[in-house]
This record gives sequence, C-alpha cells and structure tokens, in this order.
Amino acid sequence: MSQRVKIKQILLSDKTDYEVTVKGWVRTFRNNQFIALNDGSTNNNLQIVIELDTDPALQRRLTTGAAISVTGQVVASLGKGQKVEVKARELEVLGDCDGEKYPLQLKNRPSLEYLREIAHLRFRTNTFGAIFRLRHSLAFAVHKFFNEKGFVYLHTPIITASDAEGAGEMFRVTTLDLKKPPLTVDGDIDFKEDFFGRSTNLTVSGQLEGELGAMAFGDIYTFGPTFRAENSNTARHLAEFWMIEPEMAFYDLKDNMDLAEEFIKYVIRYALENNREDLEFLASRLVEEEKSKPQQDRSEMGLIEKLEFVLNNEFMRITYTEAIDILKNSKPNKNKKFQYLVEEWGTDLQSEHERFLVEKHFKKPVILTDYPAAIKSFYMKQNEDGKTVRAMDILFPGIGEIVGGSQREENYDKLVKRMEELHIPVEELSWYLDTRRFGTAPHAGFGLGFERLVLFVSGMTNIRDVIPFPRTPKNAEF
Ligand code: 4AD
Ligand code: MG
Repeated sequence: MSQRVKIKQILLSDKTDYEVTVKGWVRTFRNNQFIALNDGSTNNNLQIVIELDTDPALQRRLTTGAAISVTGQVVASLGKGQKVEVKARELEVLGDCDGEKYPLQLKNRPSLEYLREIAHLRFRTNTFGAIFRLRHSLAFAVHKFFNEKGFVYLHTPIITASDAEGAGEMFRVTTLDLKKPPLTVDGDIDFKEDFFGRSTNLTVSGQLEGELGAMAFGDIYTFGPTFRAENSNTARHLAEFWMIEPEMAFYDLKDNMDLAEEFIKYVIRYALENNREDLEFLASRLVEEEKSKPQQDRSEMGLIEKLEFVLNNEFMRITYTEAIDILKNSKPNKNKKFQYLVEEWGTDLQSEHERFLVEKHFKKPVILTDYPAAIKSFYMKQNEDGKTVRAMDILFPGIGEIVGGSQREENYDKLVKRMEELHIPVEELSWYLDTRRFGTAPHAGFGLGFERLVLFVSGMTNIRDVIPFPRTPKNAEF
C-alpha cells in the first residue's frame, strides 16, 4: 500500500501521476463510477473514479457515510470542479453505512435545529466541519499570540472553593462512593454535598488564581473550561464555556485595553490567513441565510468583509457614563429594532443597549470603561470619584459582551473594605489577599469568552453551534 495522504494535501497541489492511499467517508456515489470522498481535512471532496465493471456487490456498499480506503493514481481530472482525481486500483469498504437509517442521508441541506438534535453526527457536515476546524485554529492562535509575547500558560483549577466573581452562579461538587452508596430511607442515593468534607464548586473563572501567577511570572494566561449555573436559555450563554484569561503585572487599564484589542485582531487575522477556505464556505452559507430575512434585517457586510473591517478599525473607547448619555439622548428607532429603555446612571446595560451602541451608534466594536462599582466585581480598582471602578467590557456587533476585565485593586485596605461591604468572606480568600500583602503591584487582566469569539468569526448566531458538545439547561447527554 502506498503512503496515506490527507485529501486537503492532494487537492492543494496540481501534482499528478503518483500513487496515494486515501481513507475517508463516502459523501456521494453516482453513475456507478464517481465517489465523492471526504476525510475531514477540508470540505472539498476528492473524486475517486472506479471501473464501471467493479463488482456490483461492492458498488452497493458505497453508500453515503460508508468508510472506505482507496489506493490509486492521482491524475488530472477531466471533470469540472476539480483539478485532480484518483483512479482507484484497490478499494476496500472499512465500515458499511445503512443508507436507509443514516440520519445524514438527506437530499436537502439539513437545518441547524435538526443537526442540534443529532449533534453526535453533525461534525460530518460541511457547516460543522468548517466551524470546528476554525475553532481549532483560533485556539491555536490564542496560544501562539501569548507564547510570542512571553506569557506563561497557567493551568488553574476546575474544582475550587472560591467564587471568583462573587455572583453565586456555581455548580456544587459532590462526592459519591459507588461501591458503598449511602442509601436514604427511600432507597435514593444520598449525595454528600461536599468534596471530601469541604464545600466546593466548578470554577466560574480562573482569574483569582491567575493573579497569583501574575505576581510571580509577570504575564500569564489561562485557557480552560469555566462553568456558570445560570439557567438562561439564550443564544449567547452556555453552562460550560471556554475562557481565556490573561493577567498582567504592572499593567493599567489602558495597557489592558491595548492588549485585548491587539489580541482579538491577532486571532482574527490568523483565521483569515489560515482558514480562508472554511471562512469562504461559512460566508456563502451566511449569504444564503440572509436571503430568507426581510431586507431591513439583512447585514450590510459579508463575513470576510466584516472581519477585515474589525482588523482595520480602532475599537471605540468610551466610559459607561458617556454611554448612558448617548442612550439618553438617542431617539427610539422607527422600526422598533432597538426599542431600548432610556437608562438611569447606575443600572447595568441590557443587551439591547449594547447592541444600540455597537450596531447603530458607533457601528464598530466598543470598549466601555469605568462602570459603577455597584454593578461590578469586588476586585476591580476603585476610582477617585468613589463611585466607579476601572472596569472594561468589550462589546461586539451581533454578539454583545465578548470581553470583561479590569485593572485590579492592589491596595490591601481598600480591597478588604470593599469585600466587607459586599459580605465576601475575607478569611477564606486570605491566600488571594497575600498578593496585596506581599509585594503588591498594579495589575490588570481580562476574560474573553472563546465561544463568543468563534460565533463572531464564523458568523453563526447560536452559541450551541460553535462548541462541539454544548452544555445548556437539560442538555448533557454526551
Ligand atoms: O465578564 P465575565 O463574567 O468576567 C470574568 O469572569 C472575569 N473573571 C474575567 C477576568 O477579568 N479575568 O466573563 C468574561 C467573558 C464574558 O465577557 C463573555 O464573553 C464570557 O466570558 N461569558 C460567557 N460565555 C458563554 N456563556 C456564558 N454563560 C458566559 N458568561 C461569560
Ligand atoms: Mg461580564
């Protein structure tokens, strides 16, 4: 058998007259002669040509979804749509696929809703092939960016006793000895509400542990799963999502904003340069989808154009107070797309306010800073005005909040006072407060929700479609 080659590699070059072995899954088989073969390396199928007199029993097994191995010569293709094809010399069916029962045997493009119901098979479609190769590339670009800048990748814990955000939206961890299940009188398993005698949760953020790292390495980042027990069924929220959290010693809020903007642009540029084919596929998918919308709801830009626009424009930077003024002075939109309420200073912005600022008013990404202390977390650096904190949220068109971050309060007394006001147990966080006791330094950081980034770059609209195994309320089968 000759060397096994990935289909992407064969299609990328014009080279012909060499033998290869390819393995993949049949997409279609037509005219008893042409197999469209896909191996997941690209959405483009490789055309395999078999002899017309191939054993009919073997031909019947070439159904959509069947796994096959083919060895043959790469030759110039006479057909339209591909430069090269493989003339099969040997063909073996590795795994049959019953065409009658296979859920992806549909003639029409299956809907995203239908594919969510068979999420265990959806990786095999072109849409999800493109999305998850893109997700992979973006994750790689995240590591590349921070590695080039000399940041240390710090693995922070998933099981923890602290509530980093102080928001109380956590999943509790319990221990259970299956060999000796403690049964209740009803015969139900009696879960112990603890982790070997301690109350613990799944982490909501690695930030507090990240700060410990920043106070030693200078610059660190985390990139791992985080968990929020918010029972919200929206297109932007997951119970389990991946977050990237850099934390930098000696950074102020401006340095933090500069890094976040540079970082987001870097990973988008990486995707444009390395995932062109998949992005073009997703762009064309979007064009089709837009056609079904009423004219006024259609997006003005195509996907690639939108990504290039973000790269070529500076993010707008304004304070929360300025944003409230803009919202108060703006007139409700005629077609009621932005039927926002005029907010009072001090309340949190609703997603319709964020959308108004980003999509209607500035028409580009916006960094909002200096929020009222009352609506932000305890660790944020307090401003001189006694009312606001050095917070920053980055808002993206079509997404809303993509980044949340701040400069941190480095003054021990101010931080403890704030924690006491908010009834946060100071004793339990004494390990965290040691950063302020021993060699405290100005520092800042942020968290970027990875799925929201993938949503933006892929042009998808539901967060369940950009994570391989979405965890949303009542959704945790596999
Ligand atoms: O704004 P958040 O809650 O900030 C933090 O957790 C800070 N500790 C980050 C830091 O400063 N190191 O979350 C950060 C980002 C949000 O902007 C959003 O993109 C994403 O995480 N996010 C979610 N993504 C999907 N589903 C959810 N339920 C999310 N909650 C937050
Ligand atoms: Mg936030």
